[in-house]
Formats: sequence, C-alpha cells, structure tokens
Amino acid sequence: MRFEGKVALVTGSGSGIGEATARALAEGGASVAVLDVNEEQAKLVAGTLPGSARPVVASVADSAAVDRAFAEVEAEMGPIDILVNNAGIPGRALTERITPAIEAQMAEAATGRITTALESTVSITDDEWADMLQVHLFGTFYCTRAALRSMAPRGSGAIVNIASICGVEGCAGHPHYSAAKGGILSFTRAVAKEVILQGIRVNAVAAGYVDTPMAETMSAAMRAALEVQTPIGRMARPQEIAATAAFLASDDASFFVGATVTPSGGLVTV
Ligand SMILES: NC(=O)c1ccc[n+]([C@@H]2O[C@H](COP(=O)([O-])OP(=O)(O)OC[C@H]3O[C@@H](n4cnc5c(N)ncnc54)[C@H](O)[C@@H]3O)[C@@H](O)[C@H]2O)c1
Repeated sequence: MRFEGKVALVTGSGSGIGEATARALAEGGASVAVLDVNEEQAKLVAGTLPGSARPVVASVADSAAVDRAFAEVEAEMGPIDILVNNAGIPGRALTERITPAIEAQMAEAATGRITTALESTVSITDDEWADMLQVHLFGTFYCTRAALRSMAPRGSGAIVNIASICGVEGCAGHPHYSAAKGGILSFTRAVAKEVILQGIRVNAVAAGYVDTPMAETMSAAMRAALEVQTPIGRMARPQEIAATAAFLASDDASFFVGATVTPSGGLVTV
C-alpha cells in the first residue's frame, strides 16, 4: 500500500500494534507522528522508522494535551491525512486479581463443570472503570475530533480505530474493556456515516489476541488456553493487525465506511 505524501498520526505507537502500524504506514511512504504517553518509546520507535517520522508525547486521555499535540504535528508536518486511534491499556491490576479464578475455571472445565465465579465486575473500582473508558473511548473521541477539525475543511481523510473482539462479543472478566471497545465500534459507525459526505472514511479493526506487551498481563496458562480456543491455534503477530489497519487507511479501502474488520484467527468470523 502506498502512502506517499500523506501525514499519519498513530496513537500508542511506541509499542505493539501501534508501532507495527506506524512502520507499515512509514514503509508505504507516509510521514508518521509517533504519539505515545511514553516519551522514551515514542522517540525510540520514531528513530527507527523510514521517512520523516517524529515522536509526539501526549496522553490521549487528556483532551487539552491532544489538541496541543495535533496542532504541533500539523504545524511541523502538515495536515493529518490518516489517524489511527490505537492507544490502550489492559487493566493490569484487575487481570492480576482475577487470574486465580480464571485458572480455577480452566481446571474445572476439564472436569465438565465450572463453578468458580470471576467476581470481576463487583471488584472494579471507580478509578479502574474511569481510566479504562478515559484512555480507550474518550481518547478515541478526543483524537477523532481533533483530526476532523482539519480533515473536514480539506474534504479528505481516513481514520482507523483499533477495537477488539471484546467489543463485539464481550470478554468475561473484562467488562470495562469490553464496554470501551464496544463503545468505540458504535462511535466508529456513527461518525463514519456522518463524515463520509465530507470525504472522510472511518473504520474499525476488532482484533483477536495479539502477541504484544499488553498480552504479557496474561499468565502462561491463560495464554495457552486462548491459543487453543483460537481456531488458527496461535496469537496474531502485531504486523498482521497493522496490515489490516494500513489497508483500511489506504485508498484501496475506498468503499469501507463504518466497517468493523475482525482479524481474529477465526474467533469471530463476521
Ligand atoms: N494485544 C492484544 O491482544 C489486543 C487485542 C485486541 C485489541 N488490542 C488493542 O490494540 C491496541 C494496542 O495494544 P497493544 O497490544 O499493541 O498494547 P501495547 O501495550 O503494546 O501498546 C499500547 C501503547 O499505548 C500507549 N498508551 C497507553 N496509554 C496511553 C495514553 N493515555 N496516551 C497515549 N498512549 C498511551 C502505551 O504507552 C503503549 O505504547 C489497544 O487499543 C488494545 O486494546 C490489543
């Protein structure tokens, strides 16, 4: 896919899927803004990309910081043609809390009767709930709004939102993550239908399990179980999700509007 002359901003591109997406866009010729809350990672990744990539340090959860970051990128690199909303957090503390219950359920599954409750929803604190929605859902809104302000007057642009199969199916034990990702999918559809008349395409990627630092929140046993559940028998490589995001960002996807594409190794097939 070719992105010569395009300016792309990828949030959370200091690691994992975002880094792979930034690389795919840069290798296609885009100038890429590597936005991440982690300054060291943003600089490291931007330094390894071809073309005129630059690091941008901001939290997508902070609306004023997002507006400042977008203004800075547009002043230095030109108007943003492609936005990939990818930044995310896994809710590590909750995952650690429910890991013993998940592992007990896995042992019980072998006996044919699961009795251990996860006690996940009842244990989520207000802060855990708010942080999850703030980064994923609010962050996607803040960045989309900032991008549309400059894409709409120019009559072109592409926005790709990285969601998850948890937003399609709901993932037991992760109600806040599932709610945030489900919200992103509905947001994608609504905004896509609104802005296509202004020449801007908005789509989403609902990825299955991907081998990134985020997946390190899982125990080895949980990971093995997820790999067995996934029809392809393994997790995705970040590059496989990046390829989907790059496709949706490209002109090759010109008839995709508000779509959810599900690279999930067969876990979700629609
Ligand atoms: N790994 C998976 O199995 C998986 C599956 C489906 C969807 N996803 C989604 O893909 C996206 C990327 O996940 P990943 O697996 O590459 O994770 P990752 O942890 O490797 O990368 C996430 C990046 O986001 C950055 N980030 C976190 N909070 C931020 C904030 N407030 N502002 C800016 N940057 C922030 C982190 O510093 C990190 O560089 C996330 O939205 C995640 O929910 C991941």
